Amino acid sequence: MIDIHTHILHNCDDGSTSLKLSINQIINMIDKGVTDIVLTPHYMNSYVQTDAIIIDKRFEELLIATADMEINLHKGGEIFLNQGIDERTINRELCIGNTSYVLVETNMGEFTPDIFGTLFNLVRKGLKPILAHPERYNYIMNDPGMAEDFMYRDIYLQVNAGSILGIYGKKIEKTAWILLENGFAHFLASDNHCRTDEYILPLAIKAIRNRIDNYTVELLTQINPQKMLNNEKIEYFYLKEQKVEKKGFFERILRKI
Ligand SMILES: [Fe+2]
Repeated sequence: MIDIHTHILHNCDDGSTSLKLSINQIINMIDKGVTDIVLTPHYMNSYVQTDAIIIDKRFEELLIATADMEINLHKGGEIFLNQGIDERTINRELCIGNTSYVLVETNMGEFTPDIFGTLFNLVRKGLKPILAHPERYNYIMNDPGMAEDFMYRDIYLQVNAGSILGIYGKKIEKTAWILLENGFAHFLASDNHCRTDEYILPLAIKAIRNRIDNYTVELLTQINPQKMLNNEKIEYFYLKEQKVEKKGFFERILRKI
């Protein structure tokens, strides 16, 4: 099992508050069968702490502290997209490991204006953006079929384990299931902020196994994440039949997206 979205790099953002807490979380994750963890501290202009040098320093500290453990740690970031994309993103400093994949997020309420234009700028630079927790955005909650628009634009989608389990509310839970059942998800990850001792990814996996199938679990937590770490291409479309109906062209125009 590979977890591609976590905030367990200590003292970087609103995740882990100490090296000890990070280590305890990692021990817990290993115990649950995790082999690889991608560390994705928030990167947004207002987080002064997420300076590249600080992230590098924290990453080195965590590597040393976990040297004897059966775990592979990979450095990345969760990039908040505003209308301008900064040099560090384009220069691949914030990509996951040595890959072209980069985890991104945007406003939870409405999408940042020109979100597709911003993402296209990343794609045309050769990056492979992964949109974190699409099910948590109002635009997709109101019309889950629109998640497919991102896939047509070469954007991958990562659903949160907490969404599947209803942690963020019923509407997000319902949306997360619609995305999974229609093949509008490429990754499942914990978005672990170290706020409890419970590691929820296995709980979400169990729920998906029961409601959909084991193949979906394998695809989203092992096959696709491993391809990503190898910097291999992942198929955007993998289900032939989709059950969700998309709203029409004029409704999309009215949304001004
Ligand atoms: Fe996150």
